[in-house]
Amino acid sequence: MDKDLDQVADEIQKAILDDARRVYSEKVIDHFLHPRNVGGIKDADGFARVMGPCGDTMYIYLRIDGQGISDAKFMTDGCGTTIVCGSVVTDMVKGKEFKEASKIRHTHVLEVLGGLPDADAHCSVLAVDTLRAAIKNYLLAQRSKGRDGREAEKRG
Ligand code: FES
Repeated sequence: MDKDLDQVADEIQKAILDDARRVYSEKVIDHFLHPRNVGGIKDADGFARVMGPCGDTMYIYLRIDGQGISDAKFMTDGCGTTIVCGSVVTDMVKGKEFKEASKIRHTHVLEVLGGLPDADAHCSVLAVDTLRAAIKNYLLAQRSKGRDGREAEKRG
């Protein structure tokens, strides 16, 4: 009986993936089945939480060493395509200088994924908007630390 149930479950899973392959690239399916960089980073140097117009939220955490992003993680309550885009964006920025990372556009994410259906393209926008917000928040925090340091020096 359990074997029959397992077989039915396998057949359903196969049918779902066959349907998905008609719409999505193998790269999308790979990131959906095996999302990279899921989770948070304790005391992240850069962090942002952005809610897209669809109501889905993405969280991106960055570890920045010097000028470079040494680690990036994400979480989302969004759809499968949002998970895919968070996975790709965090993969793309690891090892990059944050200035270079801030130039990533949602079209670059779409290129890496081999495209997304028009109805899903906004998920890549949410991922990139969240990345940019995390970098911006890092830069704002750095600027404020610099200002506080200068003021402390003046007070001597
Ligand atoms: Fe909302 Fe994907 S459906 S970001």
